[in-house]
Amino acid sequence: MISAIQQAFVTGASNQIGYFLLPRLLAAGFQVTAFSRQLQINTHNIHWQQLDLTITPLLITQPIVLFHIAPLPLLVKLIQQLPLDAPIKRLITFSSTSCFTKAQSPDPQERAIANTLIQAEQAIIEQCQTRNIQWTIFRPTLVYGCGRDKNITFIAKFIQRFGFFPIIGQGTGLRQPVHADDLAMACLQACFTPTTFNQAYNLSGARILSYREMVTTIFHYLHQKPRIISVPSWFFISLFKTINWHPKYAHLSYAMITRMNQDLCFAYDQAAHDFEYEPRSFSESSLEFSTKN
Ligand SMILES: NC(=O)c1ccc[n+]([C@@H]2O[C@H](COP(=O)([O-])OP(=O)(O)OC[C@H]3O[C@@H](n4cnc5c(N)ncnc54)[C@H](OP(=O)(O)O)[C@@H]3O)[C@@H](O)[C@H]2O)c1
Repeated sequence: MISAIQQAFVTGASNQIGYFLLPRLLAAGFQVTAFSRQLQINTHNIHWQQLDLTITPLLITQPIVLFHIAPLPLLVKLIQQLPLDAPIKRLITFSSTSCFTKAQSPDPQERAIANTLIQAEQAIIEQCQTRNIQWTIFRPTLVYGCGRDKNITFIAKFIQRFGFFPIIGQGTGLRQPVHADDLAMACLQACFTPTTFNQAYNLSGARILSYREMVTTIFHYLHQKPRIISVPSWFFISLFKTINWHPKYAHLSYAMITRMNQDLCFAYDQAAHDFEYEPRSFSESSLEFSTKN
């Protein structure tokens, strides 16, 4: 519980982290204003505002804690457009471990994503130093939790539709999925913890498992016998070329698919040390899909 009433602005609040963060902020005593481009209905004392950050600057007239959980590059422009004395008391935002994993990708688009993230982090840090804003950047790895993600939920929907899941080779690449509610909790844990001021943290989940084990866990969650089919990469290339025109599969890239055999793990020791970050393990019981979300 916080001592005085604090105003929280949450940009990008309609995503999976916001789904868990908004109620946590209310429970902690914050007054919450949530922003997204899509119109949302005000509920449970959350005041929603429709705002496209590429078009309209954020108006800040009173001291706020800003939780920017929309894509990081949008924050660069958001801060640049603010007057120098805009009363942001604290900033918590999200980058991604993609700035490490995609930096060496064979796919130029992925390398560009990594570069954009790295440059955005740097620009935000410089802006915050100039404006005397205490910042914290979280870099999560694969996020899941309420059926709004494009990774775990994509796999689950594929299994529900086709009854099997294809992987390249053995799917030995290690993963460390992190639950969106643990990231929401991290926002609260770090918010008023001075050791986290002006720091960046990699945030992952407690369980390290192979891509194949991750898919197997999803089968179990769906009460289905795992049917994982190992296919050669040429098959995936053909499949990818066949489906990637469709908006539903636009987030897929060939490089993303071939990473099934690459380790994408990140220790969270620093976060555990600095603000007692203690994420849950990826398991059948941590999975929760909803067709409504
Ligand atoms: N998903 C993952 O596995 C993963 C992994 C590593 C890091 N991350 C990072 O974690 C953060 C959250 O990721 P996520 O996948 O949960 O959500 P996301 O898809 O990045 O969330 C986008 C949110 O921002 C809003 N938004 C997008 N463009 C906007 C604009 N122009 N103006 C205002 N709002 C805008 C969207 O709502 P509207 O569409 O309603 O505007 C939505 O609420 C991101 O920074 C992401 O890079 C995610």
